[in-house]
Amino acid sequence: MAFMGLSISSPSYLLFGMVVLWLLSSPAFSADPDPLQDFCVADLNAPISVNGFPCKPITNVTSDDFFFDGFIKAGNTTNTFGVNLTAGNVLAFPGLNTLGISMNRVDFAPGGLNPPHSHPRASESGVVIEGKLLVGFVTTGNVFFSKVLTAGQMFVIPNGLVHFQLNVGKGKALAFTAFNSQLPGAVVLPSTLFASSPSIPDEVLTKGFQIDDDVVKSIRSKFGF
Ligand SMILES: *[C@@H]1O[C@H](CO)[C@@H](O)[C@H](O)[C@H]1NC(C)=O
Ligand SMILES: *[C@@H]1O[C@H](CO)[C@@H](O)[C@H](O)[C@H]1NC(C)=O
Ligand SMILES: *[C@@H]1O[C@H](CO)[C@@H](O)[C@H](O)[C@H]1NC(C)=O
Repeated sequence: MAFMGLSISSPSYLLFGMVVLWLLSSPAFSADPDPLQDFCVADLNAPISVNGFPCKPITNVTSDDFFFDGFIKAGNTTNTFGVNLTAGNVLAFPGLNTLGISMNRVDFAPGGLNPPHSHPRASESGVVIEGKLLVGFVTTGNVFFSKVLTAGQMFVIPNGLVHFQLNVGKGKALAFTAFNSQLPGAVVLPSTLFASSPSIPDEVLTKGFQIDDDVVKSIRSKFGF
């Protein structure tokens, strides 16, 4: 059998095959797809839905579409976890649409915890601006990596891995995080497992965590269920 004048057993054909396989598999190394134009400011109210958001007409685009002032104020951390996450994703900042990036502001009360969670569509990097944070993640092989960081220190969370940040300093703490997705998504384990709608059957949780019914009920009640 021959392909473009090459025998199937020839080294050139094998090399061609390897290059094709590499090209086919390379999109797996990036998160959001690359843009096909300079920008596509999201029209969040468009009547059609696509993977991402349709662009608003270019003639409607102004400078304000490319700037976001949602991070100026600290979030209110008086809540269960003592943490407030201000999202600078495409929903808050439509100018990010198709660009494959976004950021969050994360404020921590003393002792505040950004509870164990993962981002299904992004790797994360972050920098501590104020305070002292224990940052940790667990690999798919159950290895835990962690470090205590102070102002100016940076961290990275590989794509999709479960991670957390805990304020271990005496005062409040502040960090900014960045993602290679316009909408990284968050699977927050406590609420995903114990506060979904409708609820995951009790038996899944009692068996899954090897705990009794009353423990499941007690955890659910903490989330108002
Ligand atoms: C674009 O601007 C026109 C004129 O101001 C307005 O009527 C229309 O709703 C705008 N469209 C979008 C998608 O912003
Ligand atoms: C985060 O802070 C904002 C602004 O203060 C507030 O409106 C919001 O309710 C807070 N979120 C939580 C979960 O406490
Ligand atoms: C923060 O949130 C708490 C609980 O919702 C509320 O009592 C408090 O007034 C808020 N603080 C500010 C500065 O908005």
